[in-house]
Amino acid sequence: MKAISLFASGGIGDLGLKHSGFDVIVANELLEDRAEVFKYNYPKTHMVVGDIWEKASEILEVTQDRLGGSPLDIIFATPPCQGMSKNGRGKLLNLCRQGLKNAVDPRNLLIIPTIEIFIKSGAHTLVMENVPEMENTFIPDSHRNGELIRIIDLIKSSLGNEFSSFIRVVEFANYGVPQNRQRLISVFTKNKILKHHIKEYGSIFPQETHSKNGYLGEKWLTVRDIISSTPPLDAGKPETAQYKEIPYHRVPLLDDEKYFWVSNTPEEKSAFDNQCINPACGFKGNPTHSSSKDENGINKVSVKTPIFCVKCHSILPRPWVKENGEYRLMKGYTSAYKRMSWDSPASTLTCNLSYACSDNKLHPSQNRVLSLYEAMKLHTISSYKFEWQRADGKKVSDKLIRELIGESIPPAGLEKILSHLSRLLNEKNKNKIFAIPIYRKQQELCL
Ligand SMILES: C[S@@+](CC[C@H](N)C(=O)[O-])C[C@H]1O[C@@H](n2cnc3c(N)ncnc32)[C@H](O)[C@@H]1O
Repeated sequence: MKAISLFASGGIGDLGLKHSGFDVIVANELLEDRAEVFKYNYPKTHMVVGDIWEKASEILEVTQDRLGGSPLDIIFATPPCQGMSKNGRGKLLNLCRQGLKNAVDPRNLLIIPTIEIFIKSGAHTLVMENVPEMENTFIPDSHRNGELIRIIDLIKSSLGNEFSSFIRVVEFANYGVPQNRQRLISVFTKNKILKHHIKEYGSIFPQETHSKNGYLGEKWLTVRDIISSTPPLDAGKPETAQYKEIPYHRVPLLDDEKYFWVSNTPEEKSAFDNQCINPACGFKGNPTHSSSKDENGINKVSVKTPIFCVKCHSILPRPWVKENGEYRLMKGYTSAYKRMSWDSPASTLTCNLSYACSDNKLHPSQNRVLSLYEAMKLHTISSYKFEWQRADGKKVSDKLIRELIGESIPPAGLEKILSHLSRLLNEKNKNKIFAIPIYRKQQELCL
């Protein structure tokens, strides 16, 4: 089956697409650096580099060329998520009323060329991946005087009644990925068999295979399952911060202050909750850091969290700022400088995965963040043949690796979902309807 991939970046999500039986004939990505990694790993795919607004016609032309008369099955589109909002229509309306020009993030409008390409390509199915917030993100509808409309509703109204949709928030840990990562997967299809499955069985996604307690299959894969046997590292000194025999098993050094906070952080905890380390005191009851919602519902961190031990007044190993010789607690939530848990899936790996100060980024017990090698394993990239190389021969920087991981979908989870779709579509070719109504059963069990 033939697919094209929009917003393809370095092609990490495309590993799932490719390994579930789709031949990605054309891809589009704005940024040259990312496209170069894609080109190296998918030499047979035609990569169109540039802004989708300007490249829409080229994408369509190359696709028709490559298809040579055969039909296109799927468009896989993963537009940027940074503009998607939890605030929804009310906040946007307020901002528009106040005349704020930037109220609508231009990245949210990228759905418009996506729909145009999809309709013109003739593909029967559009599969999109984004953050769950997309479900509640509004943009102006140019067909209705700029009236605000949910992105999802705009897609539905642009495609019309011929299409059915199936939209779910997927927890990738439930598909055997050792990482908690929730994404909205939306499928819009005019394919008869997929429409039949949506109508009759209420789902076109496979049954989840994993859960926190193993209730519906296996237990979630944990950080311990995946990286407990990797050689230890320590971010205190250059010679212990890397393990030369394993590529990418290296971590950035922590400066003395950060190392002091991190090395005093117990398992499962944040450095913001560290207790007294004065041997003569060792008080364990200093108030921990907290946050609460203010009158506007905005989460605010406590300003009362102590930086000095309430008993002996010695400095606590908590993230501090020193101003004019005075210490104060650094601004930040308790999820900053926090250790991941050995016995849970990794927390969501973001582009900041190498920054101790970012949310839940510390190794479960060692004094460091995760190495890129560990991140590749926890993101399931290591299960595939994927090279951190660029087609132009330039070096792939660590920053680029972090961005490609942080903005992508764990391919093994996506492969499970797309393989199921692929099986359903292939059954169509054999004129058979493939389905056991497992979804209903699963829903009943959950109830
Ligand atoms: C969420 S990431 C896609 C991740 C990718 N599917 C993967 O699995 O690795 C979104 C991508 O869209 C690209 N992008 C943003 N604006 C774009 C535009 N105007 N035209 C084409 N691509 C764009 C970004 O550079 C980014 O690589």
